[in-house]
Amino acid sequence: MAAFLVSWSITTTPLAKQWHFAKRNARLYVSCDKNQTEISHENFDRRNLLLGMGGLYSSSNLPSILPAFATPIEAPDFTKCSRGTNLNTGQPLDVNCCPPLSREFIDYKLPPVKKMRFRPAAHLATKEYIAKFEKAVELMKALPADDPRNFMQQANVHCAYCNLTYEQVGDKDLRIQIHNCWHFFPWHRWYLYFYERILGKLIDDPTFGLPFWNWDNPEGMVMPAMFANSNSPLYDARRNLNHLPPAIADLAYSGKDAKHPSKIIPHNLTLMYREMIRHARHLEDFYGAKYSTGSQPNPGPGTVERGSHTAMHSWVGEATRTGEDMGNFYSAGRDTLFFGHHANVDRLWTVWQDLRGSKAKHFTDTDWLDTTFLFYDENARLVRVKVGDTMDNIRLGYDFQKVDIPWQKNKPKAHVKKSKIASTSGAPSADRVFPVKLDKVVKILVPRPKKSRSKKDKENEEELLAIEGIDVDTATFVKFDVFINDEDDDPYVLDKAEYAGCFSQLPHKNSSRVKTKIRLGLNELLEDLDCEDDEYILVTLVPIAGGEDITIGGIKIIYVS
Ligand code: C2O
Repeated sequence: MAAFLVSWSITTTPLAKQWHFAKRNARLYVSCDKNQTEISHENFDRRNLLLGMGGLYSSSNLPSILPAFATPIEAPDFTKCSRGTNLNTGQPLDVNCCPPLSREFIDYKLPPVKKMRFRPAAHLATKEYIAKFEKAVELMKALPADDPRNFMQQANVHCAYCNLTYEQVGDKDLRIQIHNCWHFFPWHRWYLYFYERILGKLIDDPTFGLPFWNWDNPEGMVMPAMFANSNSPLYDARRNLNHLPPAIADLAYSGKDAKHPSKIIPHNLTLMYREMIRHARHLEDFYGAKYSTGSQPNPGPGTVERGSHTAMHSWVGEATRTGEDMGNFYSAGRDTLFFGHHANVDRLWTVWQDLRGSKAKHFTDTDWLDTTFLFYDENARLVRVKVGDTMDNIRLGYDFQKVDIPWQKNKPKAHVKKSKIASTSGAPSADRVFPVKLDKVVKILVPRPKKSRSKKDKENEEELLAIEGIDVDTATFVKFDVFINDEDDDPYVLDKAEYAGCFSQLPHKNSSRVKTKIRLGLNELLEDLDCEDDEYILVTLVPIAGGEDITIGGIKIIYVS
């Protein structure tokens, strides 16, 4: 199967015309990999397989029944894009973010890197850089409305991949969702990659890189000035106007301003330490849980996604229930600050990999590596890209301005170092409480199957608190915090070892109930609290937003090597 593409010789054509050219010639594209696609389509049809087994299972039960049949998520078929439905009411959504229709695509080959693109920290960007970025965004907004590189079309790319508008190839009953799972980092890396190349092409600058909003560094913890200037094309009126400079970005934001404003910066730094170090020792905890064909959406978000990332989205978006633009997935891409925000998320991925030393930096599971997505590139060609190509930003041709990583040393300290807090607390044990609705603070005792572990044991196995069956509606902003052996009961003090972390979720336009999970690393935390030898830990779950709508299925301690 020879891979060929009719040669693309229109680099001198004005961009607006190129899209019309691309549309006319769409049938000329030939996938390099068609056979392979067909094979995997034919491989099996899950539901037929089930009928063959005489089972009465729904496809949603499949992952647990037939784990061996998992396959990578395949690039969606654009003809199978639907406006999306509120799955609870069956009503169609009032937004349509399906991309310009095209059936044919080419497999994307990473172009050789001739010149690196440079992504500056937004707060350090020069006047010249800002002028270029503004110009590029202006040109993007001026492209014809149906050009896939047009500003709104690009915003809709995000909407389409997060709003359950695409069917999963191979399982029509399930949809594609690239959030709250292990595709969060790679999918957004590709999204920014093409966005950046489109902007660079529009201003004819092959070294153009997106700015990153350095919100993990006190020097970058306000909305960068270039985005806050109401005369700039980078401005978006649909934001929380109380959060324009000099308001300090709150990485624990949950719809309400911080109770202890003087603590925002120390909170932010210890939160970053937890997300990037303490709870991010295992690939699954940093990247998010496995999601492949046949999986229900939202198997579980990684530390950064559910923490600082979600907080910054809702901190920027309007202070309304639905939070447009940034505070809601379907509209987030309509704010240029989205790209500054995600350029930092993308940078944190690289930082995390660098901090890993010799430890594995990415999955080797082919269900991750071979996952594919479709994007329109800077020449308006529909291209199919692989997750396996995202692991190294240098190979992708861009690098970040070097900045300090201040949170590395912000290990939270224990407020109270005391053993046996759990056993004298009088809290009920976990097996008597779940499932439980989080319309109130819930305290429970969780047994530790192993205690007094040696240094060696701890090196070999991480003790993790697994919170499972977190049942939420995807259309609601929700957040709860988790504390361990905490006696002071001020849920708004977060820079202490007793604070273990959070679950939070940004709303989508679609509404459907999902069951998700998180895991929190305990090794370091138990040492800090001096309760290594305790048989139980006292876990406090504090609803912060939308608690009436959260049910928790269960909590247990597990050991993972
Ligand atoms: Cu795709 Cu920050 O969201």
